[in-house]
Amino acid sequence: MASDSSKPVYRATTTAPVNIAVIKYWGKRDVTLNLPTNPSLSVTLSQRSLRTLTTASCSAKFPKDDTLSLNGKPQDISSSKRTLACLSNLRSLRQQLEAADSSLPKLSVLSLRIVSENNFPTAAGLASSAAGFAALVRAVADLYQLPQSATELSRIARQGSGSACRSLMGGYVAWRSGDLADGSDSLAEEVAPASHWPEMRALILVVSAEKKDVPSTEGMQTTVGTSELFARRVESVVPERMAAIEAAIRDRDFPKFAEITMRDSNTFHATCLDSWPPIFYMNDVSRAAVRLVHDINSAVGRTVCAYTFDAGPNAVIYYEEKDSALVAGTAKAILGSNTEGWGGPFYETLANVTAPGVE
Ligand code: DP6
Repeated sequence: MASDSSKPVYRATTTAPVNIAVIKYWGKRDVTLNLPTNPSLSVTLSQRSLRTLTTASCSAKFPKDDTLSLNGKPQDISSSKRTLACLSNLRSLRQQLEAADSSLPKLSVLSLRIVSENNFPTAAGLASSAAGFAALVRAVADLYQLPQSATELSRIARQGSGSACRSLMGGYVAWRSGDLADGSDSLAEEVAPASHWPEMRALILVVSAEKKDVPSTEGMQTTVGTSELFARRVESVVPERMAAIEAAIRDRDFPKFAEITMRDSNTFHATCLDSWPPIFYMNDVSRAAVRLVHDINSAVGRTVCAYTFDAGPNAVIYYEEKDSALVAGTAKAILGSNTEGWGGPFYETLANVTAPGVE
């Protein structure tokens, strides 16, 4: 708290990590509450390479309306239902604290100023909305000194952006889709801590730092409404894969983890292609990365690396630390020298390291 006058400024700062799903969230059963059609599972990446840094402050001396700036640009939050939903949920939790303890300052009535900055391209398929909303929720929760756990806060972050609920924790994180219509059981939980499998690494190949053609919210609703493959993915493919990948993580079985990851990325992009009109997120450079991963695995004679692609052309390659020189070295040498269509840069990162604010 900075108390330079009778109207103090209260402030909290945090960082939040990016997460990259290995079982993809794609499809909403409730657009307003942001409830998914299927569960998903991700690995939280190190904040040393990719993170959102957010400061939330509130004061009686701030203008009446809440404000948000992202990478130095003011954002219009009055038209962002998702941001408003997160802030109103967080405010009501603060109000409950204030109602229970009258000695607490009435922060819930003060306007908020939120300043956020990414150290990586925004909206380029690098999960910027995940880190962004996780940092926003964590920063305001810290400012309000809320006692809620990360899992409880994940319900709020989910309403900002579905994948954001998985960025409130480190390690291997599942988003349980839940059954209830009010979304109260649609939340994220850590299936294994970072320390369980610390050898995991991720190489992010930024094929393009441009904004994606079809934003994920719009793309997934086109898929839900038009793809024939989609129903099968939701009904049987994903539930089986969730169980299998949780077992692979439990057993630290990289070949199994890798095959499920690659197959799920492929199935997700197949449902995009099966949408009407079809949606293309991967490009020729992405496909070169797919081929390279299969080539490395077959040349070595065991599965040492796995690719996955979100709603954009950038590749994320998972591998274990012991195979770092082989996988990251080969990928950089081969793909990095292919200047056609290459946008660079590479981020080589520890996977599964941190929860918000930790690194
Ligand atoms: C392909 O979380 O960005 O990255 O809930 O509409 O904000 P909204 O979608 P978002 O979708 C992410 C989709 C994905 C897969 C994943 O992260 O699981």
